[in-house]
Amino acid sequence: MLVLKKKVGQALADACAVAFPGASVPAPDDLSAMLEYPPDPKLGDLAFPCFRLSRSLRAAPPAIAAALAGTFACDEIRSAQTVGGYLNFFIDPAAYAVRVMSDIRSAGSNYGSPMCGKGKTVVLDYSSPNVAKPFHIGHLGTTVIGHSLKLLHQFAGYHCIGINHLGDWGTQFGKLIVAYRRWGSREEVEKKEIDELVRLYVRFHAEAEENPALNDEARAEFSRLEAGDPENTALWKWFIDISLREYRKTYALLGIDFDSYNGESFYTDKMPRQIEIMREKNLLTLDDGAWVVNLDAYHMPVCLILKRDGSTLYPTRDIAAAVYRQQTYHFDKCIYVTSAGQCLHFAQWFKVIELMGYDWADRLVHVPYGTVSINGSKLATRTGNVILLKDLFAAAIEKVRAIATEKNPDLENPDEIAEAVGVGAVVFHYLLNNRMRDINFVLEDALSFDGNTGPYAQYTYARACSILARADGAAAFSAQGLNEEELALIKVLARFPEAVRAALDAYEPSEITRYILDLCAAFNRFYHDCQILSCPDAQRRDARIAMTDAVRTVLGRALSLICMKTPEKI
Ligand code: ARG
Repeated sequence: MLVLKKKVGQALADACAVAFPGASVPAPDDLSAMLEYPPDPKLGDLAFPCFRLSRSLRAAPPAIAAALAGTFACDEIRSAQTVGGYLNFFIDPAAYAVRVMSDIRSAGSNYGSPMCGKGKTVVLDYSSPNVAKPFHIGHLGTTVIGHSLKLLHQFAGYHCIGINHLGDWGTQFGKLIVAYRRWGSREEVEKKEIDELVRLYVRFHAEAEENPALNDEARAEFSRLEAGDPENTALWKWFIDISLREYRKTYALLGIDFDSYNGESFYTDKMPRQIEIMREKNLLTLDDGAWVVNLDAYHMPVCLILKRDGSTLYPTRDIAAAVYRQQTYHFDKCIYVTSAGQCLHFAQWFKVIELMGYDWADRLVHVPYGTVSINGSKLATRTGNVILLKDLFAAAIEKVRAIATEKNPDLENPDEIAEAVGVGAVVFHYLLNNRMRDINFVLEDALSFDGNTGPYAQYTYARACSILARADGAAAFSAQGLNEEELALIKVLARFPEAVRAALDAYEPSEITRYILDLCAAFNRFYHDCQILSCPDAQRRDARIAMTDAVRTVLGRALSLICMKTPEKI
């Protein structure tokens, strides 16, 4: 919890004890949690709604406010004023600023960590593309939200396991095998790698429109693969290798590495036992030849477990995977990041896990996100109209290279910068919205150096670094002569722990992205209005350098939490 809120909560508890001796009041932390931010900062920095206590103190809110105002004392609060049933607090700028700055300096890059994850394990299942189908911009969400959630949990002290639950099993492999044999060649695939696989996949769908018999052929090839046919198995492995090589390039751009690439095929031999348990618990019923779990009582359609022909399905594999992960990692939480289109799928099989009697069912968390369109057009994977993630990043990198070299022709490492800024621009633009919002991606907007963009945030970070590079070493903070822009900046720095908490609680990286914009705005205002290195007053100069250093620490951490790199020069 925010230090200031904690202190005010404690002081409120003390004030209650003095003003209402013997009355039972909530614990200090609960009082802290009741504190609000006044809608208009002129009303105060924090407000306490006294009606929350009127029952336990048997008094009207304005009377409580008046009584508490008389006895309240806290070193960081200059005054407590009553407005109706509210007690409004105004901070003591000097005491507050000194404490916030010392918190940041002593915690360093750990500043803002809630440390709530010590000793706990979180499994995160994200990105998880379907091999042989294109890894397209629709996967941007699961990849960057998922990884950012992993970084946030690591920052909070959780032991994290990132799993790429590759879609490496299913009829699409039959399709690819057919397409490869008919229209492909080893040379072309080796040369063009995933692009050729995507071309074959797209061609299959186009040809199957005219000639539906191709679908039967594909099913037959997949059955052969399931039966262990050596030729098909070799092709299957090869397709996966090629795809993984390509995914890894994209992951490297984002600084992502997974702890496990166990995909759907990994669970083939783990499903029978779970199906047996479902039978033992009388959960399976026959529905038109297929085995299903009836979920009428929970107002959901049946969960399909075994198809008519005995083959397993997506939920069957997810159930086996969850059990395996619980047994292997003993997770406290297992998080799945997918598009909102899969909400029903997760709700269904989470319920099945519960009905199977697994007492950890409530540790499964689905984190959905909205759809992405590009420049207004929706994505269609089955037609040629797909935008691959790697192409989106490549386009962003190329455009940034052009802008950056024009802005700063003497950059030492233009390639590295273009990559960090181009990729960062895409990530930032995407993570700026609440995850459930459907977004339309416009690359030009994402790449602008002026708007609320990634390049702007990274540029602000580089600005702080360049000031510090020119300052001679660490400087001490003092609050003497603290002005309004400085105080405003310190208030934003103080909010970082709350932003981290909010992002974790709601599985919402956009909390961090929006915080970054607030911090950049406050720092840039400070930079424009206050002289830093050229400040004639040595004590103020030092204090401003110390504040710039705090910005570098917090902004650097915040950017890295949303998978962005932090070049020191742009
Ligand atoms: N491969 C799936 C897709 O691309 C996502 C898998 C998500 N993870 C899971 N355990 N179901 O739609």
